[in-house]
Amino acid sequence: MKGIILAGGTGSRLFPLTLVAGKQLQPVYDKPMVYYPLTTLIENGIRQFCLISSPQDLPRFCQLLGDGRKWGISIEYREQPKPGGIAQSFLIAESFIGHDSVALILGDNIFYGGDGFRHAFGEFKSGATIFGYHVNDPERYGVVEFDSAGRAISIEEKPKSPKSNYAVPGLYLYDNAVLAIAKNLQPSARGELEITDVNLQFLQRGQLHVQQLGRGFAWLDAGTSSSLHEASAYVQTIEKRQGIKIGCPEEAAFRSGFLTVQELEALTANMPNCEYRDYLARTLREARRPFSENNFTR
Ligand code: G1P
Repeated sequence: MKGIILAGGTGSRLFPLTLVAGKQLQPVYDKPMVYYPLTTLIENGIRQFCLISSPQDLPRFCQLLGDGRKWGISIEYREQPKPGGIAQSFLIAESFIGHDSVALILGDNIFYGGDGFRHAFGEFKSGATIFGYHVNDPERYGVVEFDSAGRAISIEEKPKSPKSNYAVPGLYLYDNAVLAIAKNLQPSARGELEITDVNLQFLQRGQLHVQQLGRGFAWLDAGTSSSLHEASAYVQTIEKRQGIKIGCPEEAAFRSGFLTVQELEALTANMPNCEYRDYLARTLREARRPFSENNFTR
């Protein structure tokens, strides 16, 4: 399975922060926002990435992430000339996807906790897998309705009267049929190719699996000044209490077996003297200790 990170949009809701650097380049506590979704996919075994962004921001992402080799992954870049909807990603990244299945993650979605995704990625074979997460304000999102057996029966994009409190977070797993579906989409009233319309197609075919993300799982979005601040505060709280970083791609690559001890050591040695480097050095020390402690920090 390949991975697409969509880091587009104008970031207008974060103005003036986004005048010189796009939304997904903004800091969430101690790292750039895009590190979080990138880490989520690395943790789940994705190694080949395509990052999509605006013409202005693409060079900055290249500068930040490079070709991914230093983390044992590969990253290609594609331009989204102007915001055309999430589902446009598949058209932009068609040559990257090839004949593979694909995980699409939004560059401003931050996930943390539990093993919720491991099973979905591990078991994925065909069709589509998306997630449902209980929120207070479902009208801001794609909303999924379940029947009494827990099966998804409807999905609506930003409904005025939501049929449930289950929002669809910005992580979607699709088989290769998503390419044909995306090609036949019509723009919505807001002029975008909607990801909800893609999901509806899979639902109509009886090929949509919606996994509920339970209590203890955090899904944060960081698209407004308040939610950006709250996401930073959340990350700081957890990191300070546990001494474990959220959204650290080097660590995730190491734990996924994409980097050897020696490669992580070399990477760490090239970093300036900073807290991030100290953390990775400690990760390396702990990796040499008994299994139980190493396992805890997974
Ligand atoms: C988009 C999708 C929506 C989804 C949300 C997750 O919303 O259209 O279905 O629930 O991402 O972050 P937008 O970014 O357009 O507000």
